[in-house]
Amino acid sequence: MSKEPKRYLVTAALPYANGPVHIGHLAGCYLPADIYVRYLKGQGKDVVFICGSDEHGVPITIKAKKEGITPQQVVDKYDGIMKNAFKDFGIDFSYYGRTSSKTHHETAQAFFKTLYDKSVFKEETTQQYYDDEAKQFLADRYITGTCPRCGNAGAYGDQCEKCGTSLNPTDLINPKSALSGAVPVLKATKNWFLPMGEIQQSEQFQNYIKRFDGWKSNIKGQCQSWLTEGLQSRAMTRDLNWGVPVPIEGAVGKVLYVWFDAPIGYISATKEYFNGSNEWQKYWQDDETALVHFIGKDNIVFHAIIFPMMLMTHGNYILPTNIPANEFLNLEGDKISTSRNWAVWLHEYLVDFPDRQDELRYVLTSIAPETKDSEFTWKDYQTRVNSELVSIFGNFVNRVMVLSDKYYQGVIPTVYQNTTDEKLIAARTLCFDGIAKSLYNMRENLDAVKLRDAQAEFINAARAGNKYLADTEPWKLVKTDEESVKAIMFDALQICAKLAIAAEPFLPHTSFTLKAMLNAPKLNWSSLFNENLLTSAHQLGKPEILYKQVEDEEIQIQLDRLQRIKTENENSQKQAALTSENSETKQLQPVKADIVYDDFDKIDLRVGKVLAAERVPKADKLLKLTVDLGFEQRTILSGIAEYYQPEELVGKLVTVVANLAPRKIRGIESQGMLLMAGNDFGKLYNVGPEKDIEPGSAVK
Ligand code: 2FM
Ligand code: ZN
Repeated sequence: MSKEPKRYLVTAALPYANGPVHIGHLAGCYLPADIYVRYLKGQGKDVVFICGSDEHGVPITIKAKKEGITPQQVVDKYDGIMKNAFKDFGIDFSYYGRTSSKTHHETAQAFFKTLYDKSVFKEETTQQYYDDEAKQFLADRYITGTCPRCGNAGAYGDQCEKCGTSLNPTDLINPKSALSGAVPVLKATKNWFLPMGEIQQSEQFQNYIKRFDGWKSNIKGQCQSWLTEGLQSRAMTRDLNWGVPVPIEGAVGKVLYVWFDAPIGYISATKEYFNGSNEWQKYWQDDETALVHFIGKDNIVFHAIIFPMMLMTHGNYILPTNIPANEFLNLEGDKISTSRNWAVWLHEYLVDFPDRQDELRYVLTSIAPETKDSEFTWKDYQTRVNSELVSIFGNFVNRVMVLSDKYYQGVIPTVYQNTTDEKLIAARTLCFDGIAKSLYNMRENLDAVKLRDAQAEFINAARAGNKYLADTEPWKLVKTDEESVKAIMFDALQICAKLAIAAEPFLPHTSFTLKAMLNAPKLNWSSLFNENLLTSAHQLGKPEILYKQVEDEEIQIQLDRLQRIKTENENSQKQAALTSENSETKQLQPVKADIVYDDFDKIDLRVGKVLAAERVPKADKLLKLTVDLGFEQRTILSGIAEYYQPEELVGKLVTVVANLAPRKIRGIESQGMLLMAGNDFGKLYNVGPEKDIEPGSAVK
């Protein structure tokens, strides 16, 4: 879109309603989206900001199973928790919807039906993985395995979260049911596929991807690599019972793929926001609207490729103007994880740090994972709050307000005469030039959605104000030159007013408080670059402390909590290992078919003693053993290198199949075989005689 958009429709990824919101979610998309929207609104732009709960898909049903409640109970519980936490934190959505709503079901079904009627889908019966124990098809997150692209062993059936690749369950190596752990079987089923490969070739899509050029490099890079590889068709329906039912005949027991219905949730929520009027259409169907999706990096393919393909094949919709996707935020050296409770939960933060939302907003924006993954630590939180928010911004405002109260009883002084002192003039010029430059850069960065840099420029402006006071020292000067002090304080109050305006997108609560302190609640963005925002004789409000120091004890409480979680996780891992050891013994191989004694008697088993053992070059699993059988020494190759170090075998008594015909392995003749007790779960033990006995003795 080359010219200025008439209006904006900004979305923040609909979070799955399967757990509360944590700082990774906030830093990934909700906080940046909120900052951007506040910035647009500050300029008086027409903006609708949409979010809501994503209530379908496997993440919900898995959670329901884990908690022993119904999927509906899961979404009802977490929808409320998330919505309230966002509100209390100051994420100012125009509307927060939910995909279980009637409007959404109808909108998603109508959307599907349009594509179906336009013959966009390919109807195909394919072999899909099925869990024979759970009697269920294994779509999406019901199946895990190894990613064929990056080797991540924990990839899901719809996506590898490590490399971002979008997958089909049949792409996974060593697939396993997430329900029962069973190896799935293939079973035929009919589904409706979006022919992404064909759409990729269309002129419309080729035109659309030209937009990537103006987007962040992380999204461009991911999309380019998928497009170069060539897109595959993807099923838009699932054999599941939780979701939006597929609205066509012959689709009983099938629902829409969650990634088909969820982005349509942005549209349904916009409809609900406009309360049944057609106003929503302007925001979705008029070319003069800018559509901006804020997401985390694991959502890129769905927003940059699949959803636009849905919108363009439907035909009535605009396509995204920008998709500012962030990378991931880690916590104290580890990946944030809902299932391992390794997170700072927003609703808990709001209890532990009441009325201190802006501290967290500030820190998360300072470390926003805009170009690469970043890290939250509580120590860093404390340092950033204390040395930046408290010492720079808070300190500046506090000094100005307290001095104004003390010298002028909170009434802005009239400056009759500007100073002629060159030192003061130089300090003033330095300060105002610095502030103008910082605020200009801040605005540029906000336009480019570089919010981390934008906020840093905001702090630079406060820093310039602080330096002005430090350079001119009005608290000393007041004894000798009251007129100059009036001029300095007048300036300093104008800077406070500018900071109150500029803070709004990043620190809305502070901005509100500061405007109240200045007794100027209407200060707004349009006057940011004006010279005098507050006039002489204006009565200020009472000084208040903007931020308090983060104390060591407060941080320690949080660190102790994380340490407890770490210990709990380690313990449950140990417990799980024990449990799986126990259950492994129950999963022994079935007994082979009967043999007669003569069959057994053909095998000549002898006790052997290992005389030497060494690894076989370029064969990770093999050891080459020299074994004394009493009557002769044999070379035996054994696939036990993963279980035994060569040196621990020397001197051991083993049982050897002595009459196994020799065979060459890796160019070495193996003259027998060792007996080992093992299972399929990674254990193997030597089966030798219990007590010392001569090599060559028979085993019967
Ligand atoms: O990754 C997630 O949490 C998804 N629920 C995001 C959906 S975004 C949109 F498409 F609704
Ligand atoms: Zn991968």
